Amino acid sequence: MINVTKSDLPNLELYIEYLKKIWSNNWLTNDGELVQLLEKKLEEYLGVQNVVLTSNGTLALQLTLRAMEIKGEVITTPFTFAATTNALVWEGLTPVFADINPETYNIDPKAVEEKIADKTTAILAVHVYGNPCYIEELQTIARRYNLRLIYDAAHAFGVEYAVKPIASFGDASILSFHATKVFNTIEGGAIVARDSAIVDKLKLMRNHGIRSETEVVLPGINAKMNEFQAAMGLCNLESVNKSIASRKALYEHYVERLSGSPVTFQKIVASKYNYSYMPVLFETRTQRDAAYSQLIANGIKPRKYFFPLTVDFNYFKKTGEDLTKKYGLINARQIADRILCLPIYPSLDISTIGKIVSHIYHAF
Ligand SMILES: Cc1ncc(COP(=O)(O)O)c(C=O)c1O
Repeated sequence: MINVTKSDLPNLELYIEYLKKIWSNNWLTNDGELVQLLEKKLEEYLGVQNVVLTSNGTLALQLTLRAMEIKGEVITTPFTFAATTNALVWEGLTPVFADINPETYNIDPKAVEEKIADKTTAILAVHVYGNPCYIEELQTIARRYNLRLIYDAAHAFGVEYAVKPIASFGDASILSFHATKVFNTIEGGAIVARDSAIVDKLKLMRNHGIRSETEVVLPGINAKMNEFQAAMGLCNLESVNKSIASRKALYEHYVERLSGSPVTFQKIVASKYNYSYMPVLFETRTQRDAAYSQLIANGIKPRKYFFPLTVDFNYFKKTGEDLTKKYGLINARQIADRILCLPIYPSLDISTIGKIVSHIYHAF
């Protein structure tokens, strides 16, 4: 089976070197030497200050919402992975959905502005497939209405917008280093926050709120990254540039082979991109589903990311409301119905892409 992605695994000997370090330190978690080293190296690589590592991206998001004391309603996109919407609901917040742009697939600033109400406190925008959001417009809206602006940058490792690091925008960004991501620490995540008081709070929050042996200053949680995860990150960081370069070549190959077909591609607005996904947009849902079935029948497993929209989750259905209608999610509905993410990962070979493309043409 050719899956939509395949985790990057580093050179085993390199990982073993880090394991030896863990054994000699006899220190497995709790802000260990390797976690601290990875935080420093990521700050350098990503070009930002204050990287706070966490055990996964979902907790990074939840901690950020808590540390910033976000309350009430948060305007967000329904075209995302479950974690974005779930984190809001888990934190007792009300997600208010805004439509997306049909070319970039990112939240539409005009739709965001229309949704602002008395209870709105924040915008949670997602750089979908690593493609930067409408940064300037969202910043202007956040300033005008005094809202917090948080980016879910789970897909956007190493991306730049207007030649600036993607995580340097907004009040905070969260990253995911899940096994399926461009850069992985097996499971893992990070927060990059602007305000140093928030950074201090996040560090306390990820470790039960413990400030010292005798002081617990807030009701924190366990969101710590461990040394084995950090070791994986340190290894993978060495090869991530090569990995992104391979992805770029594959992405461009897909585009070349599929140009002339009825599929279209996401409009990328990054000044530096990471080619984390290979989304293709079909003209109709029927075409998309035919291509999906054709690929599955031939041992290839693309994914309908992000279908269904998060507003279609069962827990929202209980309310009996038609949320697509309520929030005017016309573009999001259209894109979710017609999108398909094709396999892309550094070791995917060109001949497999040839087969995938032939199956897509066959489906037409
Ligand atoms: C958009 C988005 N947000 C958040 C997350 C959550 O990250 P994690 O899986 O590290 O908890 C993911 C993970 O896949 C994601 O795709």
